[in-house]
Amino acid sequence: MQNFDYQTPTRLIFGKGVVEKLPAVMAQFGKKILLTYGGGSIKKIGLYQKVKGLLKDAEIVELSGIQPNPKYNPSVLDGVRLCKEHKIDVILSVGGGSVLDCSKAIAAGACYDGDPWDLISYKVKAKAALPIVDIITLAATGSEYDCGGVISRTETNDKIGYMDPVLYPAVSFLDPEYTFTVSKKQTAAGIADAMNHTMEQYFVEDSTLLNDGFCESMLKSLMENGRKCIENPTDYTARAEMMLACTYGCNGILSLGNSPSGWPCHGIEHALSAYYDITHGEGLAIITPRWMRHILNEHTLPRFVKYGINVFGIDASLDKMTIANKAIDATYAFFESIGIPMHLREVGIDESRIDEMAHHIAVNEGLEHAYAPLNEQDIKQILIDSL
Ligand code: NZQ
Ligand code: ZN
Repeated sequence: MQNFDYQTPTRLIFGKGVVEKLPAVMAQFGKKILLTYGGGSIKKIGLYQKVKGLLKDAEIVELSGIQPNPKYNPSVLDGVRLCKEHKIDVILSVGGGSVLDCSKAIAAGACYDGDPWDLISYKVKAKAALPIVDIITLAATGSEYDCGGVISRTETNDKIGYMDPVLYPAVSFLDPEYTFTVSKKQTAAGIADAMNHTMEQYFVEDSTLLNDGFCESMLKSLMENGRKCIENPTDYTARAEMMLACTYGCNGILSLGNSPSGWPCHGIEHALSAYYDITHGEGLAIITPRWMRHILNEHTLPRFVKYGINVFGIDASLDKMTIANKAIDATYAFFESIGIPMHLREVGIDESRIDEMAHHIAVNEGLEHAYAPLNEQDIKQILIDSL
């Protein structure tokens, strides 16, 4: 078991109606609020109106229109400018992971005098960030409980996962009822994202029985409850368990003491969504089974056998390689069964930029140090297999 130094300072407030506590929570941080949100879903579900009513005594400045795969320019830059102009005390992020990720970059940029890209690109370490409160409306990323934000810079095809302990939200509100309206497409993408977060922590060299059990349970819960959410979007129990599982997915708690994995599927997917602006969870679902098949060998075999038996209930008496291959087939079949397009061509990606993307990933993602090391040729092959 590896050493670790771990702290998650975020307060989680979970359940039906918890947003009523918003005024008391926000008052701890000050009166000047930057309210951030996306393309309008929070207005359709009545949450915008609810928040404005609850915070009628606060001074609210708004930043709207934050897109999926949030953009440095204009969203991060506009948010930083608004924070500085209005001397904002606290950011209130209402929406999915993209709105929250963008808000994290804004929070750090607002406390920095230079170009916020210096922070996102790790040129300069942030000294501080504005406090962030969020109401998360889509179960997927786990951004509500982690210190990462993923920001895209269109002109350079960069999509950078920016992590810093100053970025943990101070308080996250999670009311599963606000996820009832998430479309089947985004629900499925959220399931795939959280499953892949779990797999990125499960497929490692060195793990514990404890962590393997957490991860296997996460995967089973996400598959069972995720399917129920797709079949019946207003199933509170299923939406609630899916939401909590997604929250656990990304803050490292599932792999304390494990050796690092390098998060290879994320490294590859971030280039796909940087170059083609696709939905993150869909890109992951397409890449995952191809990555699995590519890294399956005598060394990785025991992990796949354990995964196949404990997650999919595959007959343990079968030959080990058969179990592993059946497990990979079952992974693919599950994603396909919840309606995810399983080929890159179906999400608008053809072979024309594969060489360029493979090179970009190999140079920027450090996957030669992953659990199963990947060089540029490996990455290219996984992308070709995913077409
Ligand atoms: O923009 P609006 O109108 O709000 O609509 C959004 C958006 O179109 C909609 N939506 C959100 N809540 C809804 C809703 N529609 C109906 N009802 C609701 N309650 O859903 C669409 C997608 O939203 P988005 O925020 O982009 O989705 P998600 O939460 O999956 O976030 C994806 C982003 O997070 C990054 C991804 O790379 C991607 O950029 N990630 C962040 C991570 C982190 N911070 O730890 C880890 C992940 O691995 C991931 O990379
Ligand atoms: Zn992810």
